[in-house]
Amino acid sequence: MAQNRREFLRNTAWMGLAAMAAGCVSKGMKITGGSGAPMQGYADKPMETVRVGFVGLGSRGPSSARRLAVLPGVKIVALCDYAPERVAAANAWRGQNGHPKAREYSGPEGYKRMCEADDIDVVYSVTSWESHTPINCYAMEHGKHVFTEMPGALTVEDCWKQVETSERTRRHCMMLENCCYGEYEMLALNMIRMGLFGEIVHGEGGYVHDQRGLGHMMPADDPAKTRIRDFKPVPAVGPTPAITNIYGKYHGNWYPTHGLGPVARCMDINHGDRFDYLVSLESKQASLEAYGKGKYGPDSWQGKAKIVKGDMNSSLIRTAMGKSILLQHDIMSPRPYSRLNVLTGTRGEFRSYPKLMFTYEQKFGDGASHSYFDEKKTEELRVKYRHPLWKVAGEIAKKVGGHGGMDFVMDLRWSYCLRNGLPLDTDVYDMASWSCLVELTRLSVERRSAPVDIPDFTRGAWRCAKPFAPETFDVKKLGLEGARDAGEQQKV
Ligand SMILES: NC(=O)c1ccc[n+]([C@@H]2O[C@H](COP(=O)([O-])OP(=O)(O)OC[C@H]3O[C@@H](n4cnc5c(N)ncnc54)[C@H](O)[C@@H]3O)[C@@H](O)[C@H]2O)c1
Repeated sequence: MAQNRREFLRNTAWMGLAAMAAGCVSKGMKITGGSGAPMQGYADKPMETVRVGFVGLGSRGPSSARRLAVLPGVKIVALCDYAPERVAAANAWRGQNGHPKAREYSGPEGYKRMCEADDIDVVYSVTSWESHTPINCYAMEHGKHVFTEMPGALTVEDCWKQVETSERTRRHCMMLENCCYGEYEMLALNMIRMGLFGEIVHGEGGYVHDQRGLGHMMPADDPAKTRIRDFKPVPAVGPTPAITNIYGKYHGNWYPTHGLGPVARCMDINHGDRFDYLVSLESKQASLEAYGKGKYGPDSWQGKAKIVKGDMNSSLIRTAMGKSILLQHDIMSPRPYSRLNVLTGTRGEFRSYPKLMFTYEQKFGDGASHSYFDEKKTEELRVKYRHPLWKVAGEIAKKVGGHGGMDFVMDLRWSYCLRNGLPLDTDVYDMASWSCLVELTRLSVERRSAPVDIPDFTRGAWRCAKPFAPETFDVKKLGLEGARDAGEQQKV
């Protein structure tokens, strides 16, 4: 799938000139740092079948691999994990469910061998956080488009590395931010596009998920994980370290993108606006340490563990166009799940937690915004403004499953774009500007909540980039009929 140099120059030379002519490149900025051209709006040639090399078969990977097995026009040709037994188990599932066995790769260098294969178009990576940058870059260097779980990188430097690699190699690097494809998140996007809430001025997003009881937070029985080790975001060649190792050492929001991605999309970040700077403030640590003591006893290693990260991290982002975003991260307090998902505009407000609620003025000054619409009206409008993609794919998405169907809608959408030679909904700049908050929130907390600039990974191109348009598709080309049958049999 790699392009030759002449093809590459022919396809991209116009882009830099057009960007300059349109004033999209900030004065004094290089058009790219990676000797390629901007990736916004980039589309590869159509693919009849998207051939996938899948890496990362830990907790999340197996269900993602099963989902891809029923996606129209997608074929998994290779499976890879550090641990060979995980690859064998995923392949056994394929054999038992009527899918051809995939080639197997494993061990610390297995992903490299897989990326070097010439019968793969896409590397789909569900590996642990610290291995995303090395795997993603290696895959792009070897001509593969990359779809990566989040956060796509843990440092600003690694974000730039992936931006520059994507630009230079002309390979997509899209983060698998499934929450952007949630039913309510897409409902909000659709209603915002129709102007129902006026101009969106403020957004709120978060990841509030009580994870204290999950094994990776406070592992109970693995002596190798009982030390709070130094965590270094360098290439991983082994299983994920316990998350306690990270939260034991560092402040900040380590999982920013579930809450931020959908809000950023609704505010056209990198597509007409961009993040400018943030401040981040963190509460004290109390809940995880109390959990360790209460559950395992004060004399256990868990009871004695010192955790640096506070229970609640709250960050405020100001955009270049003057909008604000509140972003929260709390995975330790005993409270119900929420991604916040609030969007406030000049005519009304949308929110989906603790339940779907919204209001907007029917006409200016009618006072409707003093209360949310009642349940009956909310339900009527939910059906009326359901996102077009959910209208056609919602039923099968819920059957196939994956976080209420949003995982399937996400995979359906990117594979549709690749099969039809279209640009993807989000690109490497979105991956970078959402993921870099891992490091930047930590820096702000460490500096008494001082403001920290957020890099413009688009180098000025955000001014001219077209907004996301996941509502544009040809239903006949989605290929949902085949998926419907498979979904019935293979709920994941
Ligand atoms: N989108 C979502 O809703 C969602 C949900 C859960 C997890 N995730 C993301 O999915 C990713 C994986 O999470 P998880 O909980 O499955 O983690 P995990 O630790 O359970 O699994 C990671 C797997 O990657 C493998 N791996 C790590 N480095 C490797 C390498 N260099 N080569 C080959 N294999 C390697 C490990 O052996 C392991 O099997 C993370 O980025 C996480 O944030 C996303």
